[in-house]
Amino acid sequence: MANRQKTVYCCSECGEETSNWAGKCPSCGSWNTLVELKLDAPSAGRGGKKLPAPVKPKKVSELDMSAEIRFGTGIGELDRVLGGGAVIGSLVLVGGAPGIGKSTLLLQMCGSQELGCRILYVSGEESERQLKLRCMRLGIDSEDLYVLAETDLDKILSGIDALKPELVIIDSVQTIADAEISSAPGSITQVRECTMRLMRLAKEQGITIFVVGHVNKEGSIAGPKVLEHMVDCVLYFEGEHSTSFRILRAAKNRFGSTNEIGVFEMGQDGLKGVDNPSELLLSGRPENAPGTCVACVMEGSRPILAEVQALVSSAAYNASRRCNGLDYNRAAMLLAVLEKRGGLNVSGCDAYINVIGGLSLDEPAADLATVLAVASSFLDRPLGLDLAAVGEVGLSGEIRSVSMLNQRLAEISRLGFRRCVIPAHVRDEIKKPPELCLLPVKNVGEAIAAVLKRD
Ligand code: TYD
Ligand code: MG
Repeated sequence: MANRQKTVYCCSECGEETSNWAGKCPSCGSWNTLVELKLDAPSAGRGGKKLPAPVKPKKVSELDMSAEIRFGTGIGELDRVLGGGAVIGSLVLVGGAPGIGKSTLLLQMCGSQELGCRILYVSGEESERQLKLRCMRLGIDSEDLYVLAETDLDKILSGIDALKPELVIIDSVQTIADAEISSAPGSITQVRECTMRLMRLAKEQGITIFVVGHVNKEGSIAGPKVLEHMVDCVLYFEGEHSTSFRILRAAKNRFGSTNEIGVFEMGQDGLKGVDNPSELLLSGRPENAPGTCVACVMEGSRPILAEVQALVSSAAYNASRRCNGLDYNRAAMLLAVLEKRGGLNVSGCDAYINVIGGLSLDEPAADLATVLAVASSFLDRPLGLDLAAVGEVGLSGEIRSVSMLNQRLAEISRLGFRRCVIPAHVRDEIKKPPELCLLPVKNVGEAIAAVLKRD
């Protein structure tokens, strides 16, 4: 009998498929990432096969929209990241480092009163007893929540078939396996096949499925691109283990934007949404200390204030730079601009830059605050607790306009700041909050002179 299986090699980094094995992926150049996949080959003689009965595409204007397509998960921050609630029949992948709180988040979602539908929580990692203990700890006692401790995909599917839940949680995709596939659970073949079958179930029966995926050392979900292409929505749960602050971010969303973030705090009784992240991030700022300045970045439609700290000290040997929460190359560029255009001799100094709360600032609007924090540390003069700074720094030392300045100023004022350094040239008309004193500056030198003047 002809062999019906076709072998391809799939890169676990980029998802590229090739017919031959190679040590290096021809697409992304990663080494040792090609893994063997067995696919069912299409049967021979397909060209002569008859087409099925005519399929009629529908007009978009004729589609029925009367039924609700989204539902609230009962967790406001999660709804925000999903784009206003979960979409019925969608498959959402939730990735994150072990112990970050993925199971806690999804179990809390299952326990929320708002859902009001039948839910099945499948765990391949914990026993039923352990799940019960976790539910008790989180105070979850919902009559609609069913649990199943199982790793065999066929058994899970038959459980779903028997229970007919509207929402299913699979924790995690790396622990479940299709018995017909010989590869080990967690391998790219298993993960891909299992996700594919779950995806089919979601689409055919309109069941919303949340799948947990562990991330590898590099911080992406095992078999990342392969899975990301398949699912509707990819969320990453991030944060430092040492802090209680957690951020949920969408990396892909077929039904909404990927700009929004959800902010949580992990406490004794699980995760709590943080309505006011800036307040949390700014609590406990040191008074009268040099080397700290507050920046305002936009996370989706929400302005978030974060403290940038810098420590500059003369280098004993070669100058070293360390950066936490800020792109290293960006920080190096800002230090060079400060040296050349701001007249501060920082190149011979060690510089450490840190963003408080484990937040990462990848928006250029945080440049000015970073530059001022470094200058303040270098000159050993505090900027004052009532000062914030917003602006992008260019290579000539010029301070450039940023988007959504009015929203940022409103948030800065709301949190009690009284002075804000802003670019002198701005695109939109500024709506000045009444209690905020604006300090427009054209370049780095002016910014330093405006807030760190010598007496
Ligand atoms: P968990 O949800 O099990 O993480 P994941 O599923 O991502 O691996 O979270 C485990 C961590 O969360 C664990 O280190 C303890 C902490 N935690 C709390 O601090 N408070 C709580 O109420 C719970 C349930 C967990
Ligand atoms: Mg878990």
